[in-house]
Amino acid sequence: MQILESLLNNFKQELNDIQKVPDLLNLKSKYIGKQGPLSDVMKNLKDASPEEKRAIGSKANEVKNVIERLITQKMEEIEFTDINENLSKNRIDISLTDSVLEKGLQSAGYHPVTIVQQEIEDIFISMGFEVLDGPHIEDDYHNFEALNIPATHPARDMQDTFWFADKKHLLRTHTSTIQVRGMKDRKPPFRFVGPGKVFRCERTDASHEMVFHQLEGMMVGEDVSVGNLIYFMKILLSEIFKKEVEVRLRPGFFPFVEPGFELDIKCLICGGKGCSVCKHVGWVELLPCGMVHPNVLKAGGIDSEKHSGFAFGLGLDRLVMMKYGIDDIRYLHSGDLRFNSQFKSF
Ligand code: FA5
Repeated sequence: MQILESLLNNFKQELNDIQKVPDLLNLKSKYIGKQGPLSDVMKNLKDASPEEKRAIGSKANEVKNVIERLITQKMEEIEFTDINENLSKNRIDISLTDSVLEKGLQSAGYHPVTIVQQEIEDIFISMGFEVLDGPHIEDDYHNFEALNIPATHPARDMQDTFWFADKKHLLRTHTSTIQVRGMKDRKPPFRFVGPGKVFRCERTDASHEMVFHQLEGMMVGEDVSVGNLIYFMKILLSEIFKKEVEVRLRPGFFPFVEPGFELDIKCLICGGKGCSVCKHVGWVELLPCGMVHPNVLKAGGIDSEKHSGFAFGLGLDRLVMMKYGIDDIRYLHSGDLRFNSQFKSF
């Protein structure tokens, strides 16, 4: 019995110094393994009396159970310490401090499209407009159907669409989807803008990208007219360019507006002489717009007898090009920090 007591004490002392799993496993086999002192005690029991056998046997079992319990406890402690050590050694910094993103912002600033988008949002907020968002992945209804472009309408060919395999979903081809969503949740009068990325399967050139940005605008109320539309477009352009820019308004066809217009800006890259950006016509298509078609108002749950509205779809990338004199849209999407860093001070 004394041997068993001192065996347990020795084990406890040795256990205190153990830090690693292999050492713990060695200690386990040293004390309760087949060749260990506990097995020796049991082997030597053969000459003892039945009472001694019972008493010593039960004590030996108790000692074995205590040793096993202490080993399990120690194992958990070691594993816990190891995990914490690993976590602190291989720590991943998910904060922005010192990260690549932070360094990029410090050395290159915001992307020019972001700068101009925020500027325009501020202009419209100051005129009482809300700023709305919408999903990039849309369905046929929001991108076409509710905008008075039914399945067989030839206007669907005006925008080469990236469809998903289910033939029901698509990458939105314009931000006019935000009109549909905005109308659904509001009662007139209301006014909002909705900026964002749009996607078209187009051949790229100096003024065309497959992924570009638009900023939708919509105002609906009792007496909204073409006069209001032109007023807001003028404010937008004078605030953005901070100088007189020459514009022209011509008829334009979009199934969701009637009448529809194209507002073009005199090309600021070539001064109207003709270049690859304006396709040698001297004018750049920038701001299609018009009075919202009654069918679109109806689809948005609005009484078209009582209310009217205007809508526009500004080409943000092209506006950025005109504002900063960028002669190829593809610079905007190049991801080249040398390009971005030129806008740091804006
Ligand atoms: C539309 O997308 C209409 N949803 C705009 C609209 C809204 C009309 C509300 C009436 C009322 P459009 O396809 O013309 O229209 O595109 C609008 C603007 O986006 C163009 O004037 C142009 O500035 C820009 N844009 C069009 N395609 C590209 C392209 N591939 N790359 C860069 N900018 C483009």
